[in-house]
Amino acid sequence: MKALRCDEPGRLTIIQRDVPSAGPGEVLVRIRRVGICGTDYHIVQGNQPYLEYPRVIGHELAGEIAEAPSGSSFKSGDIVCIEPYLYCGTCRACRQGKTNCCQNLQVLGVHRDGGACEYIAVPERNVVPATGLGLDEAAMVEFLAIGAHGVRRSGAGPASRVAVVGAGPIGIAAAIFAKARGAEVSVLDMNARRLAFCRDEIGADHVFEVSSGIDDRLKAATDGDFFDVVIDATGSPRAMMTGFSYVSHGGTYVLLSIVRADITFSDPEFHKRETSLLGSRNATRQDFETVLEAIRSGKVPTAALASHRGGLDDAPGLIPMWSAPEAGVIKALVEL
Ligand SMILES: NC(=O)c1ccc[n+]([C@@H]2O[C@H](COP(=O)([O-])OP(=O)(O)OC[C@H]3O[C@@H](n4cnc5c(N)ncnc54)[C@H](O)[C@@H]3O)[C@@H](O)[C@H]2O)c1
Ligand SMILES: [Zn+2]
Ligand SMILES: [Zn+2]
Repeated sequence: MKALRCDEPGRLTIIQRDVPSAGPGEVLVRIRRVGICGTDYHIVQGNQPYLEYPRVIGHELAGEIAEAPSGSSFKSGDIVCIEPYLYCGTCRACRQGKTNCCQNLQVLGVHRDGGACEYIAVPERNVVPATGLGLDEAAMVEFLAIGAHGVRRSGAGPASRVAVVGAGPIGIAAAIFAKARGAEVSVLDMNARRLAFCRDEIGADHVFEVSSGIDDRLKAATDGDFFDVVIDATGSPRAMMTGFSYVSHGGTYVLLSIVRADITFSDPEFHKRETSLLGSRNATRQDFETVLEAIRSGKVPTAALASHRGGLDDAPGLIPMWSAPEAGVIKALVEL
């Protein structure tokens, strides 16, 4: 079978591999769509710090059951998505149901070879039925679940004023699920095209183009209160530090961004607000189910999100182009 491998930074190739066989407790899935995200671009560019090369990429995965194990609830041909976080099930986090932050977590396409290939064998507990979804939709469940998880962590509800800072795919996902919970959602970015997408396609209540004077504009727009919930998805340490000052008194700050930096904040400002500060890593099965339900009920503009696509053979040439900001990619999908 074919697989898309990053041999070393800057070099993606299609290689030949044997079709894997499913071990005990595993299911063989025929991969049909692979979403490409910032993590993949970073792997290809060589700025994913602890990644060992060569690596078959791919963690946003949808496909069909190739071989259902005996006694399983799956049957061949079922459309599924894959929860790419291979958790141990026994560490303290796993025992509390926080499989998203398992102490021994292995993410497909990051810590071990991923699913940008024709077939993959994965533990049955990581295979999620995507009944009622198309393949494109099923491949987008994972990145949407990252946003849904951050919003669930925040506790945002109908009375909440939420600011999502950073309108990339992860921020867009957070904005979609904050809206789905009935919150009043503002999105901040300096990219006008992405802000227009948030306003027109996901119904963001307000969008703010970040430029000088933004703090005053946010203050004026919220009668000086700022936001009950601020969700950072910028990937920018500076933005993450600035975001503390956008949290209202008694409010919550959720950091979705992952950066290699120390984040600092003013303790008096933090303390006087009694800020709740939360990290948000990956997603759990519950978040996957939230996303599946939202897609089924038409709350996610999946067709608009899937902005670019190409076949597996073309992916080595397409992925570097998709990573350029001028390409205007929201979500690119590789088809198999
Ligand atoms: N929590 C998780 O498990 C998880 C999973 C995947 C990705 N991530 C992280 O989420 C972050 C966002 O990912 P993405 O793929 O959406 O990235 P992206 O680069 O596509 O989007 C980031 C957006 O933030 C905007 N931005 C940058 N600085 C800003 C500022 N000061 N104010 C407002 N907007 C600003 C950019 O213009 C861009 O549109 C990254 O750090 C990524 O590593 C986290
Ligand atoms: Zn991803
Ligand atoms: Zn664990």
